[in-house]
Amino acid sequence: MKEVELTGPEGADPLAWTRESTPLLRGLADDLRRAEPFAGMTAAVASHLEPKTGVFIETVAAGGADVLFTGSDPDSGHEAVIDHLDDQPGLEAFAAEGMTEAELDEQHHRLLDREPDLLFDDGCVLAAKLHDSHGDALDSVVGVAEQTTSGVHRLEAMAADDVLAVPAFAVNHTPMKRRFDNVHGTGESAVSNVQLTANRIVSGETVVVAGYGHVGRGVAEKARGIGAHTVVVEVDPRKALEAHMDGHRVASMADAAADGDVFVTATGVRDVVREEHFREMHDDVLLANAGHYDVEIDVDALRGLAESTSTPRAGVTRFHLPDGRRLNLFAEGRLVNLSGPYSQGHPAAVMDSTFAMMTVAGRELVEADLSPAVHAVPDRLDREVARKKADAVGVPVEDRTDEQAAYLDDWRRE
Ligand code: NAI
Repeated sequence: MKEVELTGPEGADPLAWTRESTPLLRGLADDLRRAEPFAGMTAAVASHLEPKTGVFIETVAAGGADVLFTGSDPDSGHEAVIDHLDDQPGLEAFAAEGMTEAELDEQHHRLLDREPDLLFDDGCVLAAKLHDSHGDALDSVVGVAEQTTSGVHRLEAMAADDVLAVPAFAVNHTPMKRRFDNVHGTGESAVSNVQLTANRIVSGETVVVAGYGHVGRGVAEKARGIGAHTVVVEVDPRKALEAHMDGHRVASMADAAADGDVFVTATGVRDVVREEHFREMHDDVLLANAGHYDVEIDVDALRGLAESTSTPRAGVTRFHLPDGRRLNLFAEGRLVNLSGPYSQGHPAAVMDSTFAMMTVAGRELVEADLSPAVHAVPDRLDREVARKKADAVGVPVEDRTDEQAAYLDDWRRE
């Protein structure tokens, strides 16, 4: 990317441009500054440390908390954002740009040693370590707000194992989060990062999408929207049928492997694209993962098949197979929209809703007396955020008439 010197007050502040697109967080910060629901508390935030997360961290701090922040992925943090936040009173970084897995793990433990009261988590990275090796810190924790699909799955697995000792909100599962962030945010940013990272056209190409949940549906719809031929691979027959009726071709990965030009995984499980599939792929395919963890494409198997690797372009590892085929992997199999050289995550307008839901969930954890379990975020909070977002972006919402309300309440109606 061409280096450009940023000027003016916005250029000097790495969060300024993003703040302009996050009206919900700006409004919430004003409310929190008055009410101070987090006064005297230490909050921990784990997430991708880029500008949208920076604005979220400022919002939590506006509620009166000291905020300790860390990454949820070793490679997705931006140095300018980390340094800018770390310089502010009450905010403390447990992160650096371009960490190794081991360095990130160490930072998580250092943060948990400080015994935070409230966790804003991403992928359950802090909550799992808290329960696993910081048992002493559990007592003071009011609760966990979790923003990702994979993180909620982990919390549910902890509850099923009878180890979850604090209340947790499944923020990911709210309509205001996953209908927009997962579908549109990841859909757009994953497809645009495939285009930018490879500097190749997606129109006319065959894009194979593994998983037709919220993220996969978004990726498939956006790819088709710019002219790709889409193939969906699913293990859930209801999702496979949905993809079929939405007009995508549905196939097994074994069948799709030979046809695809671009592969995008979005399942939340491991080894979705593996050795038997690599063996069928044609030369020069692009492999990208949009799921939370770097386990969906079996990189070890790919390495085992290759006789050498190269880096033909920033963010691309090319695996050279003995028969001459070259398979191109983005961001080493990490999140394509967050961990590549062009990756900036989701558009700010989408993260505005996600982080607003995280903030109101945190406020609710402090105000409500919840049992140690995974809880759904109350629908009234989702509606509160939805109404504010609609007002902020000027989307008119029709009022239901009194007669319509009475009609819905009248179960005796003819
Ligand atoms: P979801 O639960 O709505 O969808 C996952 C889908 O994958 C389900 O329909 C499931 O049946 C399917 N699936 C599971 N195993 C499969 C397999 N072996 N082959 C094909 N399909 C399979 O989950 P959602 O919300 O779509 O999230 C998917 C992943 O993306 C999660 O890891 C989530 O944390 C992550 N995510 C990533 C984001 C990003 O910025 N890249 C943003 C939001 C979520």
